[in-house]
Amino acid sequence: MKKTFFISTPIYYASGKLHIGHAYTTTICDAIARYKKMMGYDVFYLTGSDEHGEKVQQKAKEQGITPKEYVDVLVKNVKDLWKTLNIDYDKFIRTTDDYHEQCVEKIFSYLLAKGDIYKSEYKGWYCTPCEAFWTESQLKENHTCPDCGRECHTQKEEAYFFRMSKYADQLMKYYEDHPGFIEPESRKNEMLNNFLKKGLEDLCVSRTSFDWGVKVKEDPRHVIYVWIDALANYISALGYNSDNTELFDKYWHNDENHEIVHIVGKEIVRFHVIYWPIMLMALGLPLPTKIYAHGWIVMKGGKMSKSKGNVFYPETIIDRYGLDALRYFVTSAIPFGQDGLFTPELFIENFNNDLVNNYGNLVSRSVSMIQKYFNGVVPNYDGCVLEEDTSLEEEIKTSVKNYQQYFDQFSIHLALKEIFNLLDKANKYIDDTKPWALAKVSEDVNKLASVMNHLINVIKVATVCLQPVLVETAPKVFTQIGNTYTFDQLLDFSNVNGNKVNKGEVLFPRLDVNKETEYLLDSMK
Ligand code: ME8
Ligand code: MG
Repeated sequence: MKKTFFISTPIYYASGKLHIGHAYTTTICDAIARYKKMMGYDVFYLTGSDEHGEKVQQKAKEQGITPKEYVDVLVKNVKDLWKTLNIDYDKFIRTTDDYHEQCVEKIFSYLLAKGDIYKSEYKGWYCTPCEAFWTESQLKENHTCPDCGRECHTQKEEAYFFRMSKYADQLMKYYEDHPGFIEPESRKNEMLNNFLKKGLEDLCVSRTSFDWGVKVKEDPRHVIYVWIDALANYISALGYNSDNTELFDKYWHNDENHEIVHIVGKEIVRFHVIYWPIMLMALGLPLPTKIYAHGWIVMKGGKMSKSKGNVFYPETIIDRYGLDALRYFVTSAIPFGQDGLFTPELFIENFNNDLVNNYGNLVSRSVSMIQKYFNGVVPNYDGCVLEEDTSLEEEIKTSVKNYQQYFDQFSIHLALKEIFNLLDKANKYIDDTKPWALAKVSEDVNKLASVMNHLINVIKVATVCLQPVLVETAPKVFTQIGNTYTFDQLLDFSNVNGNKVNKGEVLFPRLDVNKETEYLLDSMK
């Protein structure tokens, strides 16, 4: 039986157009999912949309439509975007789906009956015109509202609370016993120091100031807190609490044969490593294998925001440079786990250096030479004929090994780096072995044949390894080298023998730095 691998993105708020940051997380997860499939895992990739809450209700009201009408439009755009990005997810969950709402309602009822959720009073500062609660520290001068500046007064409101405090020690013990549960490690210490060691407070898990959400069945004046609603998506999507729990039974395990991985941005790590595991503990369910908190894509002026006018959309790159240009940039140029800068210059440099000058160039040179010297047929593998063959074969073997190690720990940028270093070595191998000189001496024909064979082997290895990211380019390159390959075929150097190569279109046309910088800057205005 295959090992299972469940991977999820956050479910993004259905409150606006998605930008390159959302495309980043979703592409990373897509690349990991494709990689795991290539490694023989049975993968389930989940994404979706978070559609309840006050913000959505307000925005719909402004437009004079119902909240459902409002989110339906946005969700359609999101699904179209994932289609454009060739995201191969297994399920798209909407928190407005009936089965999800029913699941959340049941979870709440169960925890209420169990005593893990209890009714109490929420005490805070209240701004009547804004219908908003604030804590003392959020208030501005003279107890005024941080939103509208008017005076607030203390108010008590009936609300439900989740007994998080009951599980805090158990959670800290879990962190200790499961290294790698939270990554990067620095995030774990942050959570321990800022929240857990100080004594975890119970969480207010209901609201009465709006009604666009899942209602508490026992007390329908209350709407279930949007984060409880949202986090439950990871199990409701698999059929937890429903008539058909087949997927849940198959994928929701955490042991040597089953992994559950959540990829999230660093700003929502607290919800995923504290509240979510505690919800699962309270429900008596397995905890995830890993929660990976990645960094942000930042622009020169800092975090992207509409008011700063520096929001960048993935379509801008895709429309002009193709899908793989976007997928490659976000997976290779931003160290996974850290923040990474996006600028037009960095994008163009990354594209020209790696895709044009390195990968594209190697494929084009190699195919042309085989056409010229061997009538387009790849010569047979004959071991290491030249000294350079030996070191190139070593390079191939180490690159594949390191690639796999890095990808397994989700260091995708480093996995890709291994492959681009190999491509770079192969371009140098051409310069060193000088095939054009070998072609002039008839006794050197076996040397020339060996060089051509090794080049196609490098291209084969690189293309298979790049396939989880370069989803459009890989099939084109396979056509050019005359065959497709799987991961377990990489180190058999004879399986390219006799392939008929085909010269195709230019894979990546070189970008003019000045012209394209200007274009990209304009697109942000
Ligand atoms: O938080 N760089 O939804 P959201 C990198 N609905 N990633 C970014 C990014 C950036 N600049 N901006 C956004 C929510 N992201 C909740 C989640 S899950 C149970 C509920 C990505 O629409 C990143 O993955 O605000 C981040 O965590 C997510 O979008 C936030 O999306
Ligand atoms: Mg957010």
